[in-house]
Amino acid sequence: MEQIRKFPEGFLWGGATAANQVEGGWKEGGKGLSVSDCARSHLDVDVTDYQKHNEITTKDIEEAMATDDEVYYPKRHGADFFHHYKEDIALMAEMGFKVYRMSIAWSRIFPNGDDETPNEEGLQFYENVFNELKKYNIEPLVTMSHYEPPLNLVLKYNGWYSREVIGFFEKYVETICTRYKNHVKYWLTFNEVDSMIRHPYTTGGLVRDRFEGMHWESVIFQAMHHQFVASALATKICHDIIPGSMVGCMLTKLTFYPYTCKPEDVLQAQQDMRSTYCYSDTQVFGEYPAYLVARFKNNGVVIHKEPEDDAIMKKYPVDFVSFSYYSSSCVAAKEDEGIEKTAGNTIFAIKNPHIPSSDWGWQIDPIGLRISMVDLYDRYRKPLFIVENGLGAKDVLEADGKVHDPYRINYFDAHFKEMLNAIEIDGVECLGYTSWGCIDLVSESTKQMSKRYGFIYVDADDYGKGTYDRYRKDSFYWYKNVIKTNGACLFEDEFDK
Ligand code: BG6
Repeated sequence: MEQIRKFPEGFLWGGATAANQVEGGWKEGGKGLSVSDCARSHLDVDVTDYQKHNEITTKDIEEAMATDDEVYYPKRHGADFFHHYKEDIALMAEMGFKVYRMSIAWSRIFPNGDDETPNEEGLQFYENVFNELKKYNIEPLVTMSHYEPPLNLVLKYNGWYSREVIGFFEKYVETICTRYKNHVKYWLTFNEVDSMIRHPYTTGGLVRDRFEGMHWESVIFQAMHHQFVASALATKICHDIIPGSMVGCMLTKLTFYPYTCKPEDVLQAQQDMRSTYCYSDTQVFGEYPAYLVARFKNNGVVIHKEPEDDAIMKKYPVDFVSFSYYSSSCVAAKEDEGIEKTAGNTIFAIKNPHIPSSDWGWQIDPIGLRISMVDLYDRYRKPLFIVENGLGAKDVLEADGKVHDPYRINYFDAHFKEMLNAIEIDGVECLGYTSWGCIDLVSESTKQMSKRYGFIYVDADDYGKGTYDRYRKDSFYWYKNVIKTNGACLFEDEFDK
């Protein structure tokens, strides 16, 4: 008899969000401004060009601070989880979630980042969220910093460029670990620490015009160095305060294929993969890889380290490796004129002619997920956690309140099968899976609400208009069945709705 295929016992199925994209309530509960509250949307420009959305100037910040507008600053309203969290968690529970990945907005706890004492209202808000999760036995997986540095740290200290910010972060981590020690076992330090390269403002609070005359790459790597040290210290604090806790790094898993089998293209793909891995290499092995040190030397990147930094990074590496995976792309040593290119997660690269693309041009490649899992596990031999994956698509809410999203079901179905292949056939250890934006939220790169990832539809448009009522999409029922059967239903023809 054929054996039934399913995921390992205890596999943590769930979904993921981030405070800056889902929460809203930007001025409530004593919250201070974060960098994301001042990230303007550009609904009027080509939304596949992520660069346009992430170049923030001092003038942009001043304009943002002078207005209460929520239309062009959509992260200020998000999906209004701040007021809907009970309902949202009940819906997650209905799907059978075992885990919910969320972030704590640093500026809700320390509104200015450098405050003497934490904001009790903010602490209480997340305690309420964790209590709600506990009611349904949903394990929280908490990102300490997901594009949410308090704005004051940008204005007063130049964000993560300043060493002082490490100390503020330590205090924040100590505060949340102490307060939530009975609630949270799984933690991530910085979301996509590597994204400092691609969007230095939201990740590191770096505003380019504040560093005039300075070597920009050195500024970025200095800020990243501070985050590496802060991440190691956060791991220590977490382990000290919460015995048995597990702390992970979080990497944007960009997966590059050589466009042809020309050795030059293969080499280019290898080089590009290394520029993805260099960050997790640092956080897992606790030291800068030789090829990153060489890059510093060759590009004239100079960073300042304190004498104790190397030892701190070495002593407190991460316990597991988490990552986001959405798509793959191709690269070539020389891009011939007219070669077709397409968008990916904050990149723009050569289009793979063998695979389809999403409405936003991101190429859909389930086998790429298996390839990514194998590469990461072989490289690090640490448990993996897939903490972001999913399809941003345009959904339609029908008059009867239904949302038919077979494209999303197909996307997940194919990715889950490859995930299981990686676990069963390739021997990869994977703790769990949280789909990105399990409830519709504001997109990071385009700031659109209409780029929907959720199993739960939120009735709000790109201008923040709508009832914010929640609706179950078809994929909601499908995912519920996947969780209930621990993936066995993926191999049956029918599923219960
Ligand atoms: C990840 C980020 O890189 O991609 C999320 O951690 C983001 O914050 C997600 O939302 C999807 O990207 P986008 O641009 O479609 O929102």
